[in-house]
This record gives sequence, C-alpha cells and structure tokens, in this order.
Amino acid sequence: MKLFLKIWRQFDTSSKGEMIDYEIDNVSEHMSFLEMLDLLNESLIHKKERVIEFDHDCREGICGQCGVMINGRAHGPLKNTTTCQLHMRSFKDGETIYIEPFRAKAFPVLRDLKINRNAFDKIITAGGFIGAATGQAPEANSIPISYETAEASFDAAACIGCGACVATCKNASAALFVGAKITHLALLPQGKIEASKRVLTMVNQMDAEGFGNCSDTRACEIECPQGISVLSIAKMNAEYTKALILRK
Ligand code: FES
Repeated sequence: MKLFLKIWRQFDTSSKGEMIDYEIDNVSEHMSFLEMLDLLNESLIHKKERVIEFDHDCREGICGQCGVMINGRAHGPLKNTTTCQLHMRSFKDGETIYIEPFRAKAFPVLRDLKINRNAFDKIITAGGFIGAATGQAPEANSIPISYETAEASFDAAACIGCGACVATCKNASAALFVGAKITHLALLPQGKIEASKRVLTMVNQMDAEGFGNCSDTRACEIECPQGISVLSIAKMNAEYTKALILRK
C-alpha cells in the first residue's frame, strides 16, 4: 500500500517544529506502525536525510515507551492497543496519516516524535513503591487477599506509563497514571502501611510537574492502551482525602 504521511519534525526542545510531508510505498498490511516508520527511515538514510526519531523499546505492548498521536488519537484508532502493536491493516491504501508526539507541558518534545517522560519517573520516585522491610519472600498464601482485591490491584498495575492519558486529556492531567499506581499498592496489605504518605507525596509531585487537574471527561480511560479504569482516579481521591484527615 501507498501512504501519505504528515509527520512532526522538531530538532530539539527549544526549536520550532512543523509538519513535513512524506510518501511511502510498498507498505505491507502486516507491518506494525513502527516498522512502517523504520521503512521510511531506511529511505531517508538512503537519501542521506535525518531520520525521524521516535520512542520504542519492547515492541510487545508492555514497556510503555512507544506512543504517538495518530490522526489525533493516542496510539491510533484501535482500542487497547499500543503504537507498537498497531498494524498497517488498520489503514487504507492511499490514506493520509498525521503523526505527532504526545503533547503536554510536562512532556517536552526531545526530537521529532520523542518526548521526555521524566515527570512520570519523578512521581514514582516520590512514592510509587513499597519501602517497608519485607525480609525474605514469604509463602504466597500466608497473607490472605481476596480474589476480587487481587484482581483489582492487578488491573491497576497493568498501567505501562506510556502517557496516552495525559496526551488525550484536554487538561493534560496525569490523574489516571497516578491513580493506577496508588490503587495497585493501596489495595494490598503490603502497600497499606505507607498508603497515606504515598498518596500525599505522589499527588504533590504530580502537581509540581505541571500536569493539569482531572475534570472527569473520561477521555483517558477510552484511550488507555491497558484499559485502566477511571475508578483508579476515584480511589486516588479517596486515599488523598483519608490521608489529609489522618494527618490532622
Ligand atoms: S515499544 Fe514497548 S509498549 Fe510499545
């Protein structure tokens, strides 16, 4: 298939970017979206032009490194699908595709489609972990956890931190990401010990990084490739309120 691409090119964070037109032929419908970009880059290398830089790592939908806006949607048109797992059969021969980086004040563009997600790392560093001494790994069934609780925690833990929620939200809110991290730890007995401190430090760091407030449009839930529920945001808000009361 032949495609017409309009791709955001920006040399570095302080440069002005622009959409540049490219044509690409012989795209197989079996290629992933990133393989299509690889093919385009090979042609640019042959022409001795600067390649298009984009984030990726696992290409298996689990690391959260990839992610671009495709025709205005984070990770493209398919539900529960990362950019690396999107295949070209989702597009038509002769189609024009707009490709841009995830955009948010807290995610500055590094080059072309590559963004800096350090803001997420700082939120995790602020409290997204269990710091209590746990000793040797205990016998798995020595702490009873109900099936429902374990499943809810695991669902929240599926967040891969790609930032699609932020890029999709009109306020560039990171509430779904932070809510998922807080939920998966707060639901389990091991995470409850530090739950109050964790939610306060992580939410404060989220605000410090310049993310916007959640106004409950639920766009994040629709575009999240892992299907993280906005119930995570409700859990974060409940944990935050509880922590403020306990602090008094
Ligand atoms: S490259 Fe790892 S999730 Fe896409």
